[in-house]
Amino acid sequence: MAQLKPVEVFDYVVFGATGDLTMRKLLPALYQRFKEGQIPAEARIIGTARSKLTTEEYRERGRKALESFVKADELDPKLAETFLALVHYASLNGAEADSTWSNLTDLLDQAPAERIRVFYLATAPNLYGAICENLSTRGLATDQSRVVLEKPIGEDIASANAINDGVGRFFPENHIFRIDHYIGKENVQAILALRFANPIFERVWSADTIEYVQISAAETVGVEGRAPYYDTSGAMRDMIQNHLLQVLTLVAMEPPSSLDADLLRNEKLKVLAALKPIAVEDVAKVCVRGQYVAGELGGKAVPGYLEELGSESSTETFVALKAEIQNWRWNGVPFYLRTGKRLNRKVSEVVIQFKKAPWSIFSTDPRANRLVIRIQPDEGVSIAISTKDPAQADSLTLRNTSIDASFAQQFQTRYPDSYERLLLDAVRGDPVLFIRRDEVDASWNYVTPLMEAWSKNAAPLETYAAGSWGPQAAADMLAANGHSWHEDMA
Ligand code: BG6
Repeated sequence: MAQLKPVEVFDYVVFGATGDLTMRKLLPALYQRFKEGQIPAEARIIGTARSKLTTEEYRERGRKALESFVKADELDPKLAETFLALVHYASLNGAEADSTWSNLTDLLDQAPAERIRVFYLATAPNLYGAICENLSTRGLATDQSRVVLEKPIGEDIASANAINDGVGRFFPENHIFRIDHYIGKENVQAILALRFANPIFERVWSADTIEYVQISAAETVGVEGRAPYYDTSGAMRDMIQNHLLQVLTLVAMEPPSSLDADLLRNEKLKVLAALKPIAVEDVAKVCVRGQYVAGELGGKAVPGYLEELGSESSTETFVALKAEIQNWRWNGVPFYLRTGKRLNRKVSEVVIQFKKAPWSIFSTDPRANRLVIRIQPDEGVSIAISTKDPAQADSLTLRNTSIDASFAQQFQTRYPDSYERLLLDAVRGDPVLFIRRDEVDASWNYVTPLMEAWSKNAAPLETYAAGSWGPQAAADMLAANGHSWHEDMA
């Protein structure tokens, strides 16, 4: 039976409440936690957006969202109604200091002033500062309030600073919760467990034994209905600057002395600060950008990015990057990061490729060991090993196999969506899985020069067929070092 930490009564105020994220992720996540009995009966979820809706009309949208985005066998219609009774709506233009704010203040005033308030900003990030100013001038930002910021925080270091300064004027850093839903994924957190609860791994976790590391997040979806956002963002800003660099910090960090939020984040920051800056003249050698063209996925023809977009664009839908960490533990070990839309399969994983045995006493060379941490789907861990081939009874011949643990099967438990944990951590005021400002800055400092180099055409925009594993140049980049992507490994 799941052990859940109770939370105090709260008001969760979502700005951007009619948007895709709220419908697809936030409401379903809160419903799941309600179903688990973790949300107090007096808690309220208050959606705000500019659309003029009544609470009843908003609840109807919420009902549809639950029907669409909660698995049918996890949705209890009666319970969903009880949950929806906690949902309210205030029509409001959060970025404007106009009279519509009274719709929200009136609602919040109905509850005791000391109640925990979480303000979740799921609007365009350039509105975060104005919303926080309005919260502050209306006295809604109390000592018991926190603000949650969705990504992307800016589009480069300068705009990130402007957003963080805008919010920081009204909320102290320890009340600001920057969310990165990858860190909330069970098997991303499991990286910490694997490394720091199992000495057998930590003993081999360095350049002495590791040849290279791969962190991939491959998606089969295209840009769906998000083209206006995605086309101004691209894969570097959408996935690498945040999700993949965050996973990299957990793989590469030194052991913190406890799970204290700042001690942990200090170690993550050190990794980001140790990333080797990439010079403009090296960009084409260590970074491949690509855009998908028409192809086939799951036996169906799918259009290319430009056809989906309906206009010309040089936005990248794929990035492969060779990152290096300049410190004693990792010197010389490439960390290959890769993400893309319309790739062959949806899979997020970390691959740790170990060095080969220094000498072979067998007629064939043993395969180098490989540890794969499957973030999604089929959360688990596998280790590739060589063993004696029992089919060759008369000789000591090697055969490749693996030790494989599928956690979902072993633990027979539902894998919660990452938002479930993170949304309630914000209520508890627990920042350990949230991103500190200096981490955001360090990530932007690393990727901004790459994007500037692209804007000067320092590297070509490759193409790849939808349904493939990305541009050939991404495979060539690894082959130049005698390495290969996981799907090409023997
Ligand atoms: C989001 C990106 O942050 O992460 C999306 O904006 C992407 O473009 C998504 O599809 C991927 O998340 P997940 O959990 O499906 O791997």
